[in-house]
Amino acid sequence: MTSAPLALAVVIPTFNERANVPLLIGKLDHALGAARWEAIVVDDDSPDGTADAVRDLALVDSRVRIIQRIGRRGLSSACIEGMCATAAPLVAVIDGDLQHDEALLPRMLLALRDDAALDLVIGSRFVAGGGTGDWDRDRVAKSALATRLARRVLKADLSDPMSGFFMIRTEILRGIVPGLSAIGFKILLDIMTSGPRPLRFVELPYTFRMRIAGESKLDHVVAMEYLIALYDRMFGRIVPVRFAMFSAIGALGAAVHLSVVWLFFRAIGVTFLGATIVATAAAMTFNFYLNNALTYRDRRLKGWRALLDGWASFCLVCSVGALANIGIAAFLHDMRDGAWAASALAGVLVGAVWNYALSSRFTWGRY
Ligand code: GDD
Ligand code: MN
Repeated sequence: MTSAPLALAVVIPTFNERANVPLLIGKLDHALGAARWEAIVVDDDSPDGTADAVRDLALVDSRVRIIQRIGRRGLSSACIEGMCATAAPLVAVIDGDLQHDEALLPRMLLALRDDAALDLVIGSRFVAGGGTGDWDRDRVAKSALATRLARRVLKADLSDPMSGFFMIRTEILRGIVPGLSAIGFKILLDIMTSGPRPLRFVELPYTFRMRIAGESKLDHVVAMEYLIALYDRMFGRIVPVRFAMFSAIGALGAAVHLSVVWLFFRAIGVTFLGATIVATAAAMTFNFYLNNALTYRDRRLKGWRALLDGWASFCLVCSVGALANIGIAAFLHDMRDGAWAASALAGVLVGAVWNYALSSRFTWGRY
């Protein structure tokens, strides 16, 4: 080997950015000039064919690589996988839609080279000289709220904790990865709050550009994922976030159950047993649907076949859970006559843990 060693990897998470990525690679080439770098595009199998567009580039430019993930979604997890896929000592993450200013990369590189004690450099819209360009007031307000929340909850003293634009030493990163929650959009927050010690960082200003082609993926679900990520950081060790969601959805299911019983038994006049059977089926279907869309969004079952199988296994698991619930409650109630509420609660808790553990294993296939 004669050439200089690889200095930097630039990770580019993409979903439907076919029109943008080739332009971004050109801009990287211009900005990074003589430094030895590689670009790692992590694409979640975009329907617009972003991955193929990247392959076309990679055929003629060996600095360009592609990781195409099938059946997966998530900005944070895409960034993490990209950052772990390089031998370079430094890695940057930059959006694939040209909204981040790639001209900052050489300065980030220099900052890390000049100061060995520095762990990462963060591109910030909120230090002097930075900006959010042409954002409308609504987006400015929402971003400010999310920023305040992050600072309060996580005690991370960052001006722009929502930034998705930064450069970090890969060795440091690899040490942190096992503890990352990998949920949602907020990869930087995750990194800053996961390590055993506070990371040393500097913030460099840049102006967030307008998106020209394609559209933003930041929607309500992403906003919800943000709250989930905050929850996970605060209480995740005590009550895992998935279990909390599963239980909350279970409580909604109980409300559905009661409403359906009321409707069929009181309003329509079906027998109580008949109403209960309908209500049970309705509540389980409702819970299956919501858990599939929210709790297990990252491995959501799609297509009729998978949905039907998943639904059947979910109903089976929940039926056994209901039996356990009844058994435990009745047993405790017999033992300690009168403590009916505590007995009922214990039954519900055992049933919930059972349903959660078994459905995450069998319905949504995890461990
Ligand atoms: N692989 C992958 N998977 N990439 C994704 C996904 C996903 O599920 N969702 C979004 N991306 C890619 C987009 O293609 C884009 O390159 C980048 O991640 C940012 O996504 P946008 O949808 O453009 O987000 P934004 O511009 O609204 O949000 C930006 O600003 C926020 C601050 O307000 C991002 O930089 C955020 O990281 C940042 O927090
Ligand atoms: Mn964007």
